[in-house]
Amino acid sequence: MNNEFIHKPVLFREVIEYLDCKEGNFYLDCTTGAGGHSSEILRVIGKSGFLYCLDRDFNAISAAKTALDDVGENYKLIKSNYSQIDKIIEENNIPKLDGILFDLGVSSPQLDHTERGFSFSKEATLDMRFAQDENETLTAEDLVNKLSKDELVKIFSEYGEEPYSKTIAEAIVEDRKKNRIVTTTQLSSLIIKSLAGKKFKGNIHPATRVFQALRIKVNEELTGITQVIPLAVNALKTGGRLAIISFHSLEDRIVKEAFREETKDCICPSRQPICTCNKVAQGKIITKKPVMAQDDEISKNKRARSAKLRVLEKI
Ligand SMILES: C[S@@+](CC[C@H](N)C(=O)[O-])C[C@H]1O[C@@H](n2cnc3c(N)ncnc32)[C@H](O)[C@@H]1O
Repeated sequence: MNNEFIHKPVLFREVIEYLDCKEGNFYLDCTTGAGGHSSEILRVIGKSGFLYCLDRDFNAISAAKTALDDVGENYKLIKSNYSQIDKIIEENNIPKLDGILFDLGVSSPQLDHTERGFSFSKEATLDMRFAQDENETLTAEDLVNKLSKDELVKIFSEYGEEPYSKTIAEAIVEDRKKNRIVTTTQLSSLIIKSLAGKKFKGNIHPATRVFQALRIKVNEELTGITQVIPLAVNALKTGGRLAIISFHSLEDRIVKEAFREETKDCICPSRQPICTCNKVAQGKIITKKPVMAQDDEISKNKRARSAKLRVLEKI
């Protein structure tokens, strides 16, 4: 499995530069994946620094170990969900950090491993869990077969920005009366059939948005990002940096808004004469506009096309 777990890290140079990686520093990579960014951080911090690495997926943890062992020893891998970052920090006695990285979403090997059920073009059970273990039992198959039409419409619209949510949800609810929907290709064929004659912008596959929506819901990805940003800022030293790479507008909007919140002092309503919230700004934004990949990177790695890096510094 390890040898097959290959993922080209996006914005590789930019991450190292914006995290201001230096020898002797302490970092936390919350989405270690195959260990691409982590390996470079570990190399730069040298023997006097330390790197903590999280991932929710056991396969990623095992691949990252292979990659990191080639670079150094001063790291710790933790299989966990980053939404628990405060607990993880306490349990592992993690000191205040110089930098924290989130490279959101799904990795290439997770998409490529057919049996994970992330891909609409490869026959597999509709799973889509980042962590295929006893702690996370809800799958895309459960959602597709159990949710009401209105719940499906809401998920497809909110998490997939799917313009034909209602048509697709109706088709699913009708079809599952005859047969349980259990595979990726069964669902994607059903979506294609339900959208016959409809117009599409660009050349994206008709099932793309629904698959994205189901993946986000199964893994509660957006809730996780919203919750974790203030906790991550809290875990930084003064001058430490939080770097987040997102891959679609829903994620980027959350990151942008959450960063803006961290820069505000008082958030009391403007008509209130005296501040009662006592909120103090925690950070300043380093990237006024998101950093995007250069053409040379995009030509080698298509995933980099949609990557956006935003960086906040703790004050
Ligand atoms: C885009 S990949 C990261 C790739 C990595 N930067 C590299 O260079 O190989 C995202 C990773 O985040 C993990 N992940 C997603 N949500 C997570 C969560 N809530 N907690 C921990 N890891 C998560 C996924 O399992 C996946 O391995």
